[in-house]
Amino acid sequence: MSNEYAVEMRDITKKFGGLIAADSVSFKVKPGEIHALCGENGAGKSTLMNVLTGKFLASSYSGEILLNGNKVKINSPKDAKKEKITIVHQELELIPDLSIAENIFLGNQPTTATGVNWKKMNAEAQDILEKFSLNLNVKTKIKYLTVGQQQLVEIAKAIYLGGNVLILDEPSAPLTGREIDFLLATLEKLKKTGISIIYITHRLEEVFKLSDRVSVMRDGKMIDTFSTKEINVEELVAAMIGRKMENMYPDMDTEVGDVTLEISNYSVPHPLYDTNIVEDASMKFRAGEVVGISGLLGAGRTELMSAVIGAYKMKGNGTVKLNGKEVKFNSPAAAIKAGIGYVTEDRKMTGLILNQSIRFNVSMASLSRIIEHGVLSPSKEKVIVNELKDGLHIKTENIENPVSSLSGGNQQKVVLAKWLATKPGVLILDEPTRGVDVGARFEIYMIIKELAAQGNTIIIISSDLPEIIGISNRVYVMYEGKVHGELLKDELGEDSIMRYATGIA
Ligand SMILES: Nc1ncnc2c1ncn2[C@@H]1O[C@H](COP(=O)(O)OP(=O)(O)OP(=O)(O)O)[C@@H](O)[C@H]1O
Ligand SMILES: [Mg+2]
Repeated sequence: MSNEYAVEMRDITKKFGGLIAADSVSFKVKPGEIHALCGENGAGKSTLMNVLTGKFLASSYSGEILLNGNKVKINSPKDAKKEKITIVHQELELIPDLSIAENIFLGNQPTTATGVNWKKMNAEAQDILEKFSLNLNVKTKIKYLTVGQQQLVEIAKAIYLGGNVLILDEPSAPLTGREIDFLLATLEKLKKTGISIIYITHRLEEVFKLSDRVSVMRDGKMIDTFSTKEINVEELVAAMIGRKMENMYPDMDTEVGDVTLEISNYSVPHPLYDTNIVEDASMKFRAGEVVGISGLLGAGRTELMSAVIGAYKMKGNGTVKLNGKEVKFNSPAAAIKAGIGYVTEDRKMTGLILNQSIRFNVSMASLSRIIEHGVLSPSKEKVIVNELKDGLHIKTENIENPVSSLSGGNQQKVVLAKWLATKPGVLILDEPTRGVDVGARFEIYMIIKELAAQGNTIIIISSDLPEIIGISNRVYVMYEGKVHGELLKDELGEDSIMRYATGIA
């Protein structure tokens, strides 16, 4: 038997109840290749990888798995590990209250006769971080890291664990320019050692930068596998969504009105050190505007906006005015009441209650709109939630299903629906399309533009440069906690943003 393929999945069919998440899927990966796996939210990408990495008992699906030409049964994550398959899951799996080092060596700690060998563990962990150019102290608890840093720790851990097959399920979603470039360069290097890398992403530019081949899934089926060199972005998108897409960003002019939110000389103390994580930031936002906030990981974007609305663990100092009146929010609930919605960066931690229904999650921030004469109106609630479900194309049969049953991108749409339901005058979106597929992204951009056209203010924090350029009227760029530049529509470009974001300009 030839060993042309490191991994061969044959006719995999996996059902969840009546739903066919993988429908007779075949997928082959060569040794030493980077193989991108693309498809819309809910297409079945994570399910296929979960099959390969032992999340499900082999008896719960049909089909065969071959590794280097040999048939194997993978019944558990342990089996996958034995077969030298490593995965970085779409949702972060680190334990917040343990240190970086403890997380890296979880279940695998070096020991002495009397217990864990802390010294050895910490030293080795520090070594791994350094190899990965991560400037963090390994004794820091995971919960003090940003989502992007957590992701880098997970990737460093996976690469350190090694194996013959490395699967990354949307690894770049929380990362920004420099970190992504570093990740891609690291994977290029790794590939040369002969291992196979399966790379799931919704950022199509990464597919073209990185992959040798790309496979596309749609509605649980494997549509095709292409050599990346032989396909262009339009063809790839067409394979993913089953039709041609004319435009990535809606073209819509909005009328700009008065200043709604104004932040002046605003600083936020660092939670751990005796410095400011945001320093003397001033920004103005007007009705009818979509304003982007750009910057690298750790530039202070999320800290600034979450402190302003009372969602950050540290209190900020400075002036915040809403429609000309000075305001101070001690909690996001107070901000919502005043008409500011905030879509959080980290849906698992702060955005959603996963085991509750879609209906519950969507309506929980807007109960005041759904309550009639002091009682919750279930019929009104259903109408509002169903409208948003249809508008955002949330892929589910029933809004009573738990959020945990949705694919990652569809969970993100639920977060967005929750805030849209509050009808905020000012809507702050922190990485709103993270993990969202191209088709749904366009729908979200349309909604953003429509909200702006209705006179609302939209503030969008995004690490996706094409997105922030495509959708914003204006962009503030932050660098090391400071507002480092402001770019108007006709000055917007990847170069101009990166110059400010890296402190060159
Ligand atoms: N544990 C589960 N229970 C029920 N349904 C599930 C479960 N996991 C996934 N599904 C369903 O299977 C289908 C495929 O989901 P999957 O997570 O594989 O999609 P995906 O391609 O990874 O999407 P995304 O890009 O949004 O991450 C979806 O319809 C999803 O709702
Ligand atoms: Mg997925």
